[in-house]
Amino acid sequence: MTDFVFATAGRIVFGPGRARDLPALVAGLGSRPFVCTGAHPERHAALLDTLGPDLAQWSVRGEPTVPEIQAGVAAAREHRADLVIGLGGGAVLDAAKLIAVLVRNPADLLDYAEVIGAGAPLGVPSLPTIAVPTTAGTGSEVTANGVVASPEHEVKVSLRSPSMLPAVALVDPELTLGCPPAITAASGLDALTQCLEPFVSPAATPITDALCAEGLRRVGSGLRRAYADGADLDARTDLSLAALLSGMALANAKLGAVHGFAGGIGGLTGAPHGAICAALLAATCRTNLSALSDLDPAHPALGRYAAAGEFLSGERGTVPLLEWIEETVSLLQVPGLIGLGLPRERFAEACEKAAAASSMKGNPVALDREQLLGILEASA
Ligand SMILES: NC(=O)c1ccc[n+]([C@@H]2O[C@H](COP(=O)([O-])OP(=O)(O)OC[C@H]3O[C@@H](n4cnc5c(N)ncnc54)[C@H](O)[C@@H]3O)[C@@H](O)[C@H]2O)c1
Repeated sequence: MTDFVFATAGRIVFGPGRARDLPALVAGLGSRPFVCTGAHPERHAALLDTLGPDLAQWSVRGEPTVPEIQAGVAAAREHRADLVIGLGGGAVLDAAKLIAVLVRNPADLLDYAEVIGAGAPLGVPSLPTIAVPTTAGTGSEVTANGVVASPEHEVKVSLRSPSMLPAVALVDPELTLGCPPAITAASGLDALTQCLEPFVSPAATPITDALCAEGLRRVGSGLRRAYADGADLDARTDLSLAALLSGMALANAKLGAVHGFAGGIGGLTGAPHGAICAALLAATCRTNLSALSDLDPAHPALGRYAAAGEFLSGERGTVPLLEWIEETVSLLQVPGLIGLGLPRERFAEACEKAAAASSMKGNPVALDREQLLGILEASA
């Protein structure tokens, strides 16, 4: 595609140790920050101490739910926040972005939600947001959406607005050094999926192609090393960069069937997003490759899958691609779907939710219900 729009965070600050820039970045954007952190804000006590006395701090306990975000919006309004900071994993960054935009918009969250709500436009621009990731996976620091779980509907959905792109993405790989292996695995495989799906999507552009290619190379070089030795700062830097590039790619090209499934399965199980993506990735690639070959053996997406194989493993081809993914998922001990809490009896429901998901539209080939069920069976 040579007709495209590309949008990203207002500014990207990247590098080991760059978290030290946070106070100066805050000073340039506001004076009453509302800071979202994860369940363990003490991990970042030294950094939070640099932000002065006029901050309100709010903890996100897990992947955010509709009632939690509604409570966060009320707290940010009460604080009269003029700036929101997200310091944590993707769940925290999403919560920060959702609160920052909902604080300024008058209707209820559900009016703006896709799938379960009216999907009304978020007409008023967001408060400025600084996104500081402490995992390397989601790329939420450079995306224009926030994901929220609705326990009532058993689904996770997005709110979207161009103004939800953070004013600043502050990415310091040192902040990810404390991630335990299971979180390194799930978030790293999320970044991999977010580089691969936009790369083979019909919505890919020359800019997202370049981002995905480099992101896949960085995953190939860093993921297994960071899992084996969490203190390896070079490997952590590769993954933080891959995650950042993956977010830029997904925000400007579409995703695909893995993410089409992930929102629904996340809502049904509460399992970590990255682990769900990891469990589905190999089977989805296999199904897509077979459907594409049946449709047109010269389909351009087939060549893209083969190139992805080279970026990840050093060897061009779809066989090296599948081998690398399957070996990595097994090495990183990612459980299958049943282990993640999705029993076979709920596979049909997961397929229905996937078929309605917006990400499914980015898949390089349309998949029918039987193919979708086949992916779940092969990922069980
Ligand atoms: N907006 C987007 O573009 C986008 C894209 C992909 C995923 N998401 C969303 O992001 C969320 C997943 O984010 P995630 O994979 O980062 O997981 P997460 O934010 O749920 O964090 C996983 C766990 O890691 C812990 N953690 C975070 N940083 C740590 C650190 N430095 N050391 C030790 N533990 C740490 C957290 O406390 C949490 O228990 C999901 O809700 C998903 O839907 C959003």
